[in-house]
Amino acid sequence: MRGILFVLLPFSLLAKSSFITPMEYATSLYKNPRGIGCHKCHGESGEGRVVAKYEHKNEKKSFAGPPINSVSFNDFFISLNVRKNGMPRYFLTQKEIKALYFYLQEKKREDGADVK
Ligand code: HEC
Repeated sequence: MRGILFVLLPFSLLAKSSFITPMEYATSLYKNPRGIGCHKCHGESGEGRVVAKYEHKNEKKSFAGPPINSVSFNDFFISLNVRKNGMPRYFLTQKEIKALYFYLQEKKREDGADVK
C-alpha cells in the first residue's frame, strides 16, 4: 500500500501542475501579459471600460479602453503589433495573441453576448 502511494503521489502532483486548461492559460495572460493587464483598460471580458474621468480646460473628458470583444482576429492581431494611442506596447508572440483572442471569444460565449 505504502509503495503505491509513493508511486502515485509524485505523479498526481505533476499532473496537477501540467493540466492547466487553455482557458486558464488565456485568462492569466489576459490579466498579466508581461505588463499592465488588458482588463484594466478593456474590462474583464473585453467589453471596454472608462478608466478615468478628468477635466481639461473646463471640459469634461474621459479616458477609456474601447471594447475589444468583437474585432476580427486579423484586426486584433494588427492592433497588438502597432503603436496605439493610450495603450502600452506589448511584445507578444503569435501564440499569446491567439490565446488572448481565445479568451475574449470564450468570455463572450460564457456571458451569452453571442446569443442572437
Ligand atoms: C492602459 C490602457 C490599456 C491597456 C492596459 C490595454 N489597452 Fe488595448 N487599447 C487601449 C486604448 C486607449 C485603445 C484605443 C487606441 C486607439 O484608439 O488608437 C486600445 C485599443 C486596443 C485594440 C484595438 C481595438 C479596435 O477597435 O480595433 C485592441 C485589439 C486592444 N487594445 C487589445 C488589448 C489587449 C489584448 C491588451 C492586453 C495585452 C490591451 N489592449 C491592453 C488601452 C489599453
